[in-house]
Amino acid sequence: MPIDNSIQHDMTTYQQQIAVHLVTAVVLLDEKLTIQYVNPAAEALLLKSIKKLKGLAFHDVFFTDSINGARLAKIMETGQEFTDNDVVLTLLEQEPITVELSVSAIELNQKTYILLELKQVDQLKQISAETFQLHQWEAARDLIKGLAHEIKNPLGGLRGAAQLLSRELTDEQQEYTKMIIAQADRLTKLVDRLLGPNQLPKMQLHNIHQVLEAVYQLVQYDNPKNITITRDYDPSIPDIEFDQDKLQQAILNIVNNAVQAVSEQGQIKFKTRIANNQTINGKLVKLAIQISIIDDGPGISLKLQDTLFYPMVSGRDNGTGLGLSISQTLVNQHQGKLSCKSRPGRTEFIILLPITKENP
Ligand SMILES: Nc1ncnc2c1ncn2[C@@H]1O[C@H](COP(=O)(O)OP(=O)(O)OP(=O)(O)O)[C@@H](O)[C@H]1O
Ligand SMILES: [Mg+2]
Repeated sequence: MPIDNSIQHDMTTYQQQIAVHLVTAVVLLDEKLTIQYVNPAAEALLLKSIKKLKGLAFHDVFFTDSINGARLAKIMETGQEFTDNDVVLTLLEQEPITVELSVSAIELNQKTYILLELKQVDQLKQISAETFQLHQWEAARDLIKGLAHEIKNPLGGLRGAAQLLSRELTDEQQEYTKMIIAQADRLTKLVDRLLGPNQLPKMQLHNIHQVLEAVYQLVQYDNPKNITITRDYDPSIPDIEFDQDKLQQAILNIVNNAVQAVSEQGQIKFKTRIANNQTINGKLVKLAIQISIIDDGPGISLKLQDTLFYPMVSGRDNGTGLGLSISQTLVNQHQGKLSCKSRPGRTEFIILLPITKENP
């Protein structure tokens, strides 16, 4: 394919510099739909350098339903530009990405070229969806907490009154007050779980693997399903400050669910890694510890996936639906993030904990 080198010469230094600093990815195609120029943002998006991209037909680099030969030919002819939102771009050997795509025709050196402007939107979408989910979860949790408070106050009075009353009653009649007391105790336990963790975490330097090993031991003690737990740890993970009991509880709730979900002889994996450049609650975190609990159970039903972390959401007959909501609270208390990816045969719960300067 012939490469038109004159384009770059035609651009003034000023224009070139602007293109270099743009956040929007810019790709210039000639009339044969061959790539003639890409700016650094496009190099980053397409994960290839300008040297490799220049001269390639665009459909050898990426593919999308949004731009086809006929549509581009029309643009060349009429000069009418278009913008498509949420365009899925399939990149060769890479995961697809979602972009906002603008296509226009421009005249350079008495030739017509096609200018593609691409803005990646999936990261932004993910962040706003996560923030939305977190707000919804907070609203649901606060509602349940308020309700739990209202139930807890009279419950103490009810129990006390039943105790006083039982002193006046015959043994036979005391059966009734015993029942009131037992049911009040059961409700108190439930209400306490609904209220969730109420103490601030006691932060101390620990290694996350100690916590995982403690959870491992607990599951091994009582393992009627003969589940195999494998551990895949990154030993280079530094100690960070956290509340050992609280993180253990958060992880145990997740592991208990995995134990309940898998069948006899199921597999559960504890995995730790260092993760770079993660967004945690809308903030970019350069370094984080990633703890994954992976099981080979049937996966989380679609019906539950959007509200999985909400209090009182359960897919089990005798579940209270509080385990994951409590884990979420505990992880949030550590400025971390809890998320889940699930399909039949592979469910992964991921805890991200930031490694910061204060938290080396
Ligand atoms: N690893 C998993 N595989 C399949 N489903 C899961 C998994 N983890 C959670 N779930 C589903 O999510 C639901 C909510 O879990 P959560 O721990 O919050 O409540 P629960 O286990 O039902 O009750 P509780 O933990 O309060 O006893 C579960 O009932 C289950 O249906
Ligand atoms: Mg549970």
